[in-house]
Amino acid sequence: MQGKNAIITGGARGIGEAIARKLASCGANVILWDVLEDAAKATAEAIAKEYGVKASGSAVDVTSADAVEAAASAAKDEFGDIDILVNYAGITRDNLLIRMKEEDWDLVLKINLKGVFLCTQKVGRFMCKARKGSIVNIASVVGVMGNAGQANYSASKAGVIGLTKTSAKEFAGRGVRVNAIAPGYIQTAMTDKLSDEVKEMMTAVIPMNAFGQPEDVAKAVSFFAGDEAKYVTGQVLCVDGGMVM
Ligand SMILES: NC(=O)c1ccc[n+]([C@@H]2O[C@H](COP(=O)([O-])OP(=O)(O)OC[C@H]3O[C@@H](n4cnc5c(N)ncnc54)[C@H](O)[C@@H]3O)[C@@H](O)[C@H]2O)c1
Repeated sequence: MQGKNAIITGGARGIGEAIARKLASCGANVILWDVLEDAAKATAEAIAKEYGVKASGSAVDVTSADAVEAAASAAKDEFGDIDILVNYAGITRDNLLIRMKEEDWDLVLKINLKGVFLCTQKVGRFMCKARKGSIVNIASVVGVMGNAGQANYSASKAGVIGLTKTSAKEFAGRGVRVNAIAPGYIQTAMTDKLSDEVKEMMTAVIPMNAFGQPEDVAKAVSFFAGDEAKYVTGQVLCVDGGMVM
């Protein structure tokens, strides 16, 4: 991965930051796109200092075709060929289907699914031209098995899985691989806020009896992104302590 250039959407914090750090620790330069501009810049600066790689952070809304196109061109001008794209940016707006507001359905689909489409299209175009590249999409186990209260989110993540397989088929002949990670329950600031009772209920459905760590997701991304997976495309890997099998 030494000297490769990787774009990570939603890479300013949390699991996205862990992914950026993992790729940088393997020698990749990282380009962080996030709506949180200050956090993206601060994370990029810290990564550059810690790992001695080139890193940049900028404000990019993945739902804007113009913004993504401009950012992809700027990244190529500044860094050269883009070798890796990790589509991580995503949100939740949970509610039971019966009560779900139309705007919450639309927003989740827009960021989680259309955002992946736009980044794949704009960055994938460069990759196909260069005849090399690896795209890793972050789906979720709920895109495979569904989850009460997450109709919008699980539909968006099931969509990401379909998009992953289709883009893998379209790009394979151009030397570009596309795979997806489906994380289960991962320990983040969000899950830290849950009550002990809820955490216990969630842990009870995980055969390995514990939440995953951001680094567990990052290691799986690093496998798909690098040459160790050079004959692997169109796959969905659950990183979930055995929840889906
Ligand atoms: N936390 C988990 O247990 C878990 C499990 C499965 C999947 N995931 C997936 O991980 C991703 C993020 O989850 P998280 O809980 O770590 O959230 P998070 O809020 O920590 O990270 C999401 C990042 O995406 C950014 N973002 C949001 N909208 C954006 C936009 N329009 N354009 C660019 N960036 C944008 C946010 O600013 C944030 O930095 C999602 O794709 C989610 O589906 C998380």
